[in-house]
Amino acid sequence: MKTTLRVGMIGAGAIAFNHCSGINSHPQAKVVAVADLNRRRAKTIQKKFGIDKTATQWKDIISDPDIDAVSVALPNMFHAPVAIAALKAGKHVMLDKPFAMNRHEAERIIDAAKEAGKTFMLGMNIRFMENVQRVKALTEKGELGEIYHAKAYYLRQSGAPKFGTWFCNKKLSGGGCMLDIGVHMLDSCLYLMNNWQPVSVFGSTYTKFGNRGIGEGSWGMSDKGKQVFDVDDFATALIKFKNGATVQLDASWVLLCETPKTNIELFGTKGGAAAFPTARLFKFGKKGKFDIKEPKNVKIAYPKCNRFVNWVDVILGKDKPMCTPAQALTVQKILDGIYESSKTGKEVRIR
Ligand SMILES: NC(=O)c1ccc[n+]([C@@H]2O[C@H](COP(=O)([O-])OP(=O)(O)OC[C@H]3O[C@@H](n4cnc5c(N)ncnc54)[C@H](O)[C@@H]3O)[C@@H](O)[C@H]2O)c1
Repeated sequence: MKTTLRVGMIGAGAIAFNHCSGINSHPQAKVVAVADLNRRRAKTIQKKFGIDKTATQWKDIISDPDIDAVSVALPNMFHAPVAIAALKAGKHVMLDKPFAMNRHEAERIIDAAKEAGKTFMLGMNIRFMENVQRVKALTEKGELGEIYHAKAYYLRQSGAPKFGTWFCNKKLSGGGCMLDIGVHMLDSCLYLMNNWQPVSVFGSTYTKFGNRGIGEGSWGMSDKGKQVFDVDDFATALIKFKNGATVQLDASWVLLCETPKTNIELFGTKGGAAAFPTARLFKFGKKGKFDIKEPKNVKIAYPKCNRFVNWVDVILGKDKPMCTPAQALTVQKILDGIYESSKTGKEVRIR
């Protein structure tokens, strides 16, 4: 194994900066090429990170024999084709969330990774956050007892991605706020509960503001196309698990709520916990007194929320992935179930 892993960055949009700085912070990895259809954006990233080569076509990156691995930050519709092609070309792959447009694409990526024998990881960055790691330390120690319910939510008031970008167009994104930000809360919630056995989901998705041109936020660098907004700007779901546990999940890009809020709240038989704004543990103390503690002295494996350091360590055989493909697939199955349930009005079994 070479001492330096040579990484190609595919996509030079808003999140690519986070990818490049994360990868370059690993002493044994370096971004050596960047591709984006938009040459100017690729050049900006090249200059900022001192990258050797640029390309407009992602195929030029995956066919480059000097490149060992690729990090993919493209619109969701390209996740599966690019990840599969890169794995087939013998590259390790880091893919930003969501996994894919649907579970079938996700399954094909997993098959391609197995066939190629390369490392594939989905970059679920919220798992790496210090707050989430602190709560994880509590659940691992059994401080919560049996976790029988959780509330996970990411609610923005006026925070849709820029109108006219791919995010708002179902053909290019696969879905709206639930797929874009609900995925983070769902993924981290299941990770904290360590419960990967969902059995059913009932969900509803809504398009109430974006389609009327209300609620535009600031995210996204993609070129604006025809202004289409046909995705969810609010979505809600109740997920049931094999052991009887339930998760209430809510996500919004646009919502007339009192304050924007993000949290994962866990309710157990011995303790409760919340991840944000600070990690806290709730217990009944002496005489049933409600007690609140902040977990301290937790060793954070990957500081600065750096999913890329974990990915490189996994490739180099130094660590295990924080997010396994099987876990990521479970999350995708639930997300698919939410959209299907909303369409049919029925509870969807998850298999
Ligand atoms: N983990 C996180 O917190 C997080 C945050 C934001 C975005 N993301 C994910 O990262 C991905 C990219 O999001 P973004 O916010 O950077 O989007 P963006 O729109 O800002 O950038 C996408 C880039 O891809 C380029 N592109 C589009 N099609 C291409 C093609 N065929 N070949 C080469 N380049 C092409 C565009 O020109 C653009 O520069 C999405 O999947 C998104 O969900 C993750």
